[in-house]
Amino acid sequence: GAGALRDRYGRVSTDLRISLTDRCNLRCTYCMPAEGLDWMPHDEVLDDDEVVRLARIGVERLGITTLRLTGGEPLLRKDLEHLVAELAALDPRPVVALTTNGIGLARRAGALAAAGLNRINVSLDTLQSDTFASLTRRRRLDDVLAGIRAAREAGLDPVKINTVLMRGVNDHEAVPLLRWAMAEGVQLRFIEQMPLDAQHAWERSTMITAAEIRARIQPHLPLVEDPADALARGSAPAELFRVEGTEHAVGIIAAVSKPFCGSCDRVRLTADGQIRTCLFSRTESDLRGALRGGATDAEIADRWLVAVQGKQAGHGIDDPTFLQPDRPMSAIGG
Ligand code: GTP
Ligand code: 5AD
Ligand code: SF4
Repeated sequence: GAGALRDRYGRVSTDLRISLTDRCNLRCTYCMPAEGLDWMPHDEVLDDDEVVRLARIGVERLGITTLRLTGGEPLLRKDLEHLVAELAALDPRPVVALTTNGIGLARRAGALAAAGLNRINVSLDTLQSDTFASLTRRRRLDDVLAGIRAAREAGLDPVKINTVLMRGVNDHEAVPLLRWAMAEGVQLRFIEQMPLDAQHAWERSTMITAAEIRARIQPHLPLVEDPADALARGSAPAELFRVEGTEHAVGIIAAVSKPFCGSCDRVRLTADGQIRTCLFSRTESDLRGALRGGATDAEIADRWLVAVQGKQAGHGIDDPTFLQPDRPMSAIGG
């Protein structure tokens, strides 16, 4: 093999996040405008064989051990079950995970699990039907809840729920969401909102911080730090807290106020075949061009290694010169 994807700060990328499409069937206000975005043309999006080839190169030659499928909305990808099966058949067998909004998952969770999917993270920002409808511009809360239940029933474990709290929108739901997650047996993670929206409307001053999230929950459900969780955290974005007196954990992803870039083990492949070494990269490396231009596996692996060597130290959101990346979250993969 060509070796590990080590950057010049000594971090090693072992987690490949593959965006399968930039399209989505929701229109979350913090993500994209009501009319959607200019979607990638179909011929620019990697097909299944291309995705599998790049994943295989990552797994066989570059030490990738986890594949996380993202979007846009990855369930929109035709025959995702088949793709999951092909990825799960790679050797050495990678962990295959999915990050989804949960629409349509109720019908597909069983087949995805059977195809080899190991883990699933579902986005859910509210338990109120009207808030869901105004936040996502679609009235689909019940579909998502059914999807989450189906994922549990299919044996996917853990099921993690990603929640972005926004002031005046859903921030009063922190405690009800946590109580719900405890009752459902899923792990809730609150995420600080990052400047990755297509509209460039993010403001640091209105963002709900990790400290504020903790303070909001504390009076109702006391949270305690668990040294075992801290030890096990590794490169995970979420810091875990235990709900006092219970076995339940809640995660807080403090991407802005307490960055975890120093231990980042992630590298991203966009749906149109570009390697991004950071959510906030300002450069990309074109693997699709290499692939379609007839490059060998070894040449593609080399290009990938060079890209990772250029990985930036951190997101730099607090730098005075910070510039939001050109691509929004939906076109990078979460
Ligand atoms: P597991 O903990 O392994 O289940 O996955 P994950 O938390 O990495 O995956 P998920 O797709 O659910 O990501 C949750 C959220 O964490 C994302 O939506 C981002 O907000 C944040 N996140 C994930 N990776 C990164 C990263 O590399 N940088 C930053 N800043 N945030 C990230
Ligand atoms: N900041 C943080 N998380 C975001 N997500 C979407 N946009 C942002 C943002 N700007 C979340 C979604 C989903 C995950 C893939 O990313 O809510 O849970
Ligand atoms: Fe779709 Fe996710 Fe963006 Fe919402 S945050 S519009 S679910 S891509």
